[in-house]
Amino acid sequence: MRLALNRVLTHLGCQYPIIQSPMGWIARASLASAVCNAGGFGMIETSSGEVENCLAEIHNMAELTDQPFGVNLPLMLLNNPTTVEQVINAGVKFVTTSAGDPSKYIHTLKAAGIIVYHSVASLKLAEKAIKAGVDGLIVEGHEGGGFKNPAAVSTLVLLRAIRRKSDIPMVAAGGIADGFSMAAAFAAGAEGIQMGTRFVCSKESPVHDNYKNAIAAARDEETRIINTNSKPWMRVLKTDHSAAIEQQGSVENETLAAIQKVYFGGEMNASIAFAGQSVAMIDSIDSVDDIIQTVVQEFFDAQQAASLRFTEQHF
Ligand SMILES: Cc1cc2nc3c(=O)[nH]c(=O)nc-3n(C[C@H](O)[C@H](O)[C@H](O)COP(=O)(O)O)c2cc1C
Repeated sequence: MRLALNRVLTHLGCQYPIIQSPMGWIARASLASAVCNAGGFGMIETSSGEVENCLAEIHNMAELTDQPFGVNLPLMLLNNPTTVEQVINAGVKFVTTSAGDPSKYIHTLKAAGIIVYHSVASLKLAEKAIKAGVDGLIVEGHEGGGFKNPAAVSTLVLLRAIRRKSDIPMVAAGGIADGFSMAAAFAAGAEGIQMGTRFVCSKESPVHDNYKNAIAAARDEETRIINTNSKPWMRVLKTDHSAAIEQQGSVENETLAAIQKVYFGGEMNASIAFAGQSVAMIDSIDSVDDIIQTVVQEFFDAQQAASLRFTEQHF
């Protein structure tokens, strides 16, 4: 089944408008290429700060897939401007920027023929990005896992707030892990989705099984927002460790530095474990291909069921 070509699909050049979130250390070639080969759009991260390794992963992609993929540039964490040049020279055609001023590299990226989407967490940030000249927005609601803006606006509200002011292409992120939530985002004006937590809990995800199992087991109330005395806020899984940090109000650098012990060592209390409220929709560790096919099927089922529910109930 093929979705009609929309603006986001035209920009991405893949089969389904389903993007795998950039995630430090996790969004590397093994996961991203699996997403690309299943018809979605894989992203390579640079937020780990391991620029050389990330560039190597970008080059590895050519060995693993012939499909298009993208790279994320977290603007505030980019210590070296040559990273942008290196990403351009690697032949990347789609970049998402996040965490910073979108106007910083937009001209350099656009001059290189790259499509640029910027991640936004509020209408104000969306308006700033549109003014800067981005091609589209990753509309990131408060439900999502990872770093969060204290604006704390939910995905559906944010999609509607932006669409009421602008016709810019939008990709919805945060709180989406199945085709039903995808359909809701499309009804609100999105032309694509980005999923992080769902792909962390996939067979091809490089993280430890303890992390995947914790996501699959978690229910709707089992994430929490931490670091609220500081910035950025962070949405993480509820663990004994994150309970202590919540009390404390801020996350220490040593905690963040130990995150790979959670990711790859499976020591769930060694650091924080990013995850979104979408854990409520995830019960099993599935292959990337199964995830994407299920989401696409559910998307069409959801649309049909929603129309039927409306007509059957004679509002
Ligand atoms: C484990 C994990 C790590 C993340 N790391 C990053 C990151 O390094 N950079 C970034 O821009 N976003 C990061 N995010 C946020 C995602 O890009 C995305 O916005 C979020 O996953 C969407 O919500 P969802 O998790 O409900 O799908 C991370 C999210 C998760 C779950």
